[in-house]
Amino acid sequence: MKNEIIGVVGATGKTGGRVLTQLQQLGYSTRGLSRGISGNNHRTFDWSDRSTWVAALQGLDSVYVTYFPDLAVPSAEDDIRAFVEMAKASEIKHVVLLSGRGEEGAQRAEDVVRSSGLAWNIVRASWFMQNFSESFMHDGLKAGELVLPEPKATEPFIDVDDIADVVVAALTRHELRNQLLEITGPELLSFVDCVDIIGHASGREIGFTTLPVDTYLAAAKADGLPEDIAWLINELFVNVLDGRNESTTDTVERVLGRPARRFESYVMSVASTGIWDEEKQVMES
Ligand SMILES: NC(=O)c1ccc[n+]([C@@H]2O[C@H](COP(=O)([O-])OP(=O)(O)OC[C@H]3O[C@@H](n4cnc5c(N)ncnc54)[C@H](OP(=O)(O)O)[C@@H]3O)[C@@H](O)[C@H]2O)c1
Repeated sequence: MKNEIIGVVGATGKTGGRVLTQLQQLGYSTRGLSRGISGNNHRTFDWSDRSTWVAALQGLDSVYVTYFPDLAVPSAEDDIRAFVEMAKASEIKHVVLLSGRGEEGAQRAEDVVRSSGLAWNIVRASWFMQNFSESFMHDGLKAGELVLPEPKATEPFIDVDDIADVVVAALTRHELRNQLLEITGPELLSFVDCVDIIGHASGREIGFTTLPVDTYLAAAKADGLPEDIAWLINELFVNVLDGRNESTTDTVERVLGRPARRFESYVMSVASTGIWDEEKQVMES
């Protein structure tokens, strides 16, 4: 099986980067795919330019798929349908799709993969812990105040390293094929809990302000937030964070034989890198 080539779509992203590194460390042949990736064993792939897909997929045996910006957006179902058709034409045998919990658009894309006739896995994840350190919440935390649309529910945040471990298991362990792997962290936390834990670990006072979603989006759009990302923020904060995901699963432990990582443990390891430290002001002479 190690002679087969595993493709990773979104290979420079939060999960894709970790999955690619792990597969390489385990001795698998890999191909990283994204718009900007370059070098040996990588190929250009752009969701918005299907002419890039044929060369990107040719010769792959299996593929891990992360959609951008999110599987919940309206274009995802059609893109995933076209992707699956091209994967079949390229004789790819197994597709592992990263999905989001409780997202109706994502579930339509999941159905396309499940009914494709290919071997499949859906890795359906809760909100990532790394949204606080590698994504849209990082800048606010660093600046000392996180501003968000009012979240209506608690969330079982999951460590992206746990997601990568489960994805690698799905890609490499035959007995896991054709299963939905719904994965969460081990505990429900509010955003206030998370900001408190991060502030405590980094020795800083970090404020947390919530705004009505319309007020938040109007300000963000005035600052240049693209329409599709504004749609996504509304979908996530209004429709998905409504309490439907206020439960945990034991899938990480069932697949990996160890429990999912706790938020506090993620924060302690990340805080020690200085990622949430206040930006130093440059003194003008
Ligand atoms: N964040 C969460 O809490 C959460 C929770 C559940 C599920 N998810 C799912 O996670 C997925 C995102 O995965 P991720 O967080 O690992 O990725 P990510 O960190 O958002 O990284 C995006 C990756 O996609 C590539 N990319 C961006 N635009 C692209 C395009 N037009 N065509 C092809 N590649 C493109 C980027 O590389 P280039 O810039 O080089 O193209 C990069 O490799 C989404 O589908 C979302 O539904 C997220």
